[in-house]
Amino acid sequence: MRLDKLLANKGYGSRKDVKGLIKKKNVTVNDQVVKDSSFHVDLEKDVVKVNHEIVYYREYIYVMLNKPSGYVSATADDREKTVIDLLPAEYRLFNPFPVGRLDKDTEGLLLITNDGQLGHQLTSPKKAAEKTYYADIRGHVTEDDIEQFRLGVQLDDGYIARPAKLKILRAGNMSQVYVTITEGKFHQVKRMFEAVGKKVVYLKRIQMGNIMLDDNLEPGDFRELEDTEVESLKKSRSKK
Ligand code: URA
Repeated sequence: MRLDKLLANKGYGSRKDVKGLIKKKNVTVNDQVVKDSSFHVDLEKDVVKVNHEIVYYREYIYVMLNKPSGYVSATADDREKTVIDLLPAEYRLFNPFPVGRLDKDTEGLLLITNDGQLGHQLTSPKKAAEKTYYADIRGHVTEDDIEQFRLGVQLDDGYIARPAKLKILRAGNMSQVYVTITEGKFHQVKRMFEAVGKKVVYLKRIQMGNIMLDDNLEPGDFRELEDTEVESLKKSRSKK
């Protein structure tokens, strides 16, 4: 990472302020004064000091967002507000990205990180982390639907969805369910219910891998993951 970016990340001021600090020889890397703001720091090994004090930095951020409706799961978009817009500038400096996608109108748990390896692990079809959603459904969800989801429903393009777990919380003209899937096809949950003749009218993700959405987060709120949560996410696997 560039030295000026690192120090700006750590709150030593704007990039311009930091460049001033560097020019004035206040910054060392491995005890050598560095005057070049674009100097590349190896976050694994290099020791950076500002005015003789070690700068403790970190490479990765891990954020849990309760995604509100109305935001797209992208890092940038010409027309729409993105989930990254919900984070303050000091987080955006890490170039974070959302892990997988929630539709614009879907709410709930979205992990945002700059850890590409973890992002890949959680979204890779091979690793198949479980994702659980709460959904309001127009239509009477039945035991037969549970069985069809267990066997794998056929989506509109012919694709047979992987077995999914469906739990009925309330059945009626409007039903309430939990559904757990291990893949992330476009509009997957909505299309799975369409396949059994029903319509998702509200969708909220409540779990991803071993992580539950924090009840204290209102839509639009976020918090950093605890170290234990990050470790547990890294161990997330499909329970099949
Ligand atoms: N399935 C959907 O249909 N939409 C989402 O946002 C997530 C899963």
